[in-house]
This record gives sequence, structure tokens and C-alpha cells, in this order.
Amino acid sequence: MTIPPDATIAFGADHGGLILKDRLAEELRKAGRPVLDLGTHATASVDYPDYAHAVAQAVLDGRAAAGILVCGSGIGMSITANRHAGIRCALVHDVTTARLCRQHNNANILALGERVIGWEVALEAMTVFLSTAFEGGRHARRLSRIDIGRIDVIDDEEGIN
Ligand code: RB5
Repeated sequence: MTIPPDATIAFGADHGGLILKDRLAEELRKAGRPVLDLGTHATASVDYPDYAHAVAQAVLDGRAAAGILVCGSGIGMSITANRHAGIRCALVHDVTTARLCRQHNNANILALGERVIGWEVALEAMTVFLSTAFEGGRHARRLSRIDIGRIDVIDDEEGIN
């Protein structure tokens, strides 16, 4: 399943990710996609967990179909977002992992580090993340085993990858 092309995408960043967050959100707006920008909106130093929690909550309650989080490294954002059961936040540095986190992990939040990724790669990573379908099958079974206490068995043919 692909993230619907007309669905809202939530954005969040701290001061370390503000510029990249704003540029990526603007690209989506230009393409006609609804954007939910949950801040930060200024260069003042802020705490990244506040924005990671806000975006995770927006994805979980359905205000957004997926999220994009940016901080300096992407690490704090991804750690925080992944504290929420049902959030699969992938910290991505290249286009290949942007594709794989959708195909295999059904990632619903993309985390990027403004201080470690170039603009062209970040833009392509976002584009690939938003347009790549989850492959389901054996990967769905594995996802069902991630959240502690939520181990469901999904019948499916055994995969080797
Ligand atoms: C802020 O200086 C920086 O620590 C933050 O943006 C992020 O990289 C944390 O993981």
C-alpha cells in the first residue's frame, strides 16, 4: 500500500532541522499536497522531542497519513517518534533506505538530519518515501511482531529476504 498522493503529510523539526523542514514542506505544497506543519517555525533553540511527539500523534490520530521529522542528525527525532506504538520512524541518509523503509518496514515517518544530508538526496529521499508501496506479505507478519504485547500471527508464505 502506498501513502495516498493527496493525503496530508505532517512535518516537524527543531532548530537544527528548520531550514530543511521548511524547504521540503514547500516542495510538497508546490505539488499541491496538503501539509500540516507542526513547527518549529523560528530559529530559537527548542527541544526536538516536543515536535517528534506532535508529528507521531498526528499520524496516529489520522490528521496526517505520514510524517517527516528533521533535526540536526535525525537521531533524536527517530528515537522519540519510535516510542509511540504504531509509529515506524526510519532514519534515512540515502534514497535506497528511503525506498526499503517503505517496501519492507511500512515506515510512516521519515527522519532526516539536516546537518548530515544534502538537499538533493533529502528531496529525492522524501519523494521516494512518499511514492513507494509497502510490499506486505512476510513483511506484514514481521511488523505485527514489533510492538511488545502485540504479537499477532499472520498466515503467509515463508519469505527468505
Ligand atoms: C540540536 O543541537 C541537536 O541535538 C538535534 O537537532 C538533534 O540532532 C538531536 O538528535
